[in-house]
Amino acid sequence: MNDVKPRPLGDSDLYVSRLCLGGNVFGWTADESASFRVLDDYVAGGGTFVDTADSYSAWAPGHRGGESETLIGRWLADRGRPEDLVLATKVSRHPEFPGLSAGNVRAAADASLERLGVDAIDLYYAHFDDPDTPLEESARAFSELVDAGKVRYIGLSNHTPDRIRAWLDICADQGLHAPVCVQPHYNLVERGVEDALVPLARERRLSLLPYFGLARGFLTGKYRPGGPSVDSPRAGSAGALLEDERALRVLDALDTVAGRLGVPQAAVALAWLADRPTVSSVLASARGPEQLADLLPVNTLVLDAESADLLTEASAP
Ligand SMILES: NC(=O)c1ccc[n+]([C@@H]2O[C@H](COP(=O)([O-])OP(=O)(O)OC[C@H]3O[C@@H](n4cnc5c(N)ncnc54)[C@H](OP(=O)(O)O)[C@@H]3O)[C@@H](O)[C@H]2O)c1
Repeated sequence: MNDVKPRPLGDSDLYVSRLCLGGNVFGWTADESASFRVLDDYVAGGGTFVDTADSYSAWAPGHRGGESETLIGRWLADRGRPEDLVLATKVSRHPEFPGLSAGNVRAAADASLERLGVDAIDLYYAHFDDPDTPLEESARAFSELVDAGKVRYIGLSNHTPDRIRAWLDICADQGLHAPVCVQPHYNLVERGVEDALVPLARERRLSLLPYFGLARGFLTGKYRPGGPSVDSPRAGSAGALLEDERALRVLDALDTVAGRLGVPQAAVALAWLADRPTVSSVLASARGPEQLADLLPVNTLVLDAESADLLTEASAP
């Protein structure tokens, strides 16, 4: 274990813990009581960064979107807001607020502020690219939210490197508030971002905040060839990795390192990711405190070079 300091988000004055708590489970696979306990334990374990989106969890039967933000808002009201907590949310996929047009971004931000019960969103993401809205319109709308004091910093998620570069260039040309971070799909079995996005992030001083840090649960080691079936709405996509030879090599390497260090596989997988170039914090969710306990060590766990190299080689594309 190491004395790991909070890291800055890009050029912002926000500092975050290595583990960012994923919020898509709140109100979905974690009910209110479980969600509150996860949030309590996360903060008690040194966590300072919670991620959600206005659309979470609109995909679940009977849900409309906003369930996760509402629950986080209730938790903040009940417990009081921890002083150093950084709260991130996103716009573009809520059924009532689709896309990144200026009017939609403004309306969706107000709805998120209302559900969260806060005066400002620390980090507001464009959740997905919107090819039907001119980038300049979206960039200006986000920047105006910063001017209005409703948003502190801007992030982009699921955008290609070219679109990120174009958004940043518009901000530089027009004196707009620019994104400080990007949130891509990145983990030990999905390293596609390393070719173009990571170099761009380095060049433009953007922080990378990878999502699916656990490959939807696969990197916890609970999916095994011939093992018992897993009861989870993620089991289909996570379990499909058992057909992938590289993923099985990663699992072996995780077992080796976890055994050597005496920490859960999940923490090892997240620790590898947390120390990849340009990464500030890694996202992962837990449906209960027992799952979270396996993730929390990443706040202080730094892998030795031999362990990190073993994982890097096993996961090489
Ligand atoms: N920007 C985007 O487009 C985007 C997309 C996806 C996610 N995200 C964000 O990233 C966060 C993380 O992604 P994710 O939650 O979908 O996937 P993930 O972090 O890769 O996987 C988390 C899931 O793994 C399982 N798990 C966690 N700890 C475990 C343990 N100790 N033992 C066994 N199983 C364990 C749980 O699922 P089960 O219990 O259900 O198996 C948990 O919900 C999300 O919450 C969200 O905030 C963003």
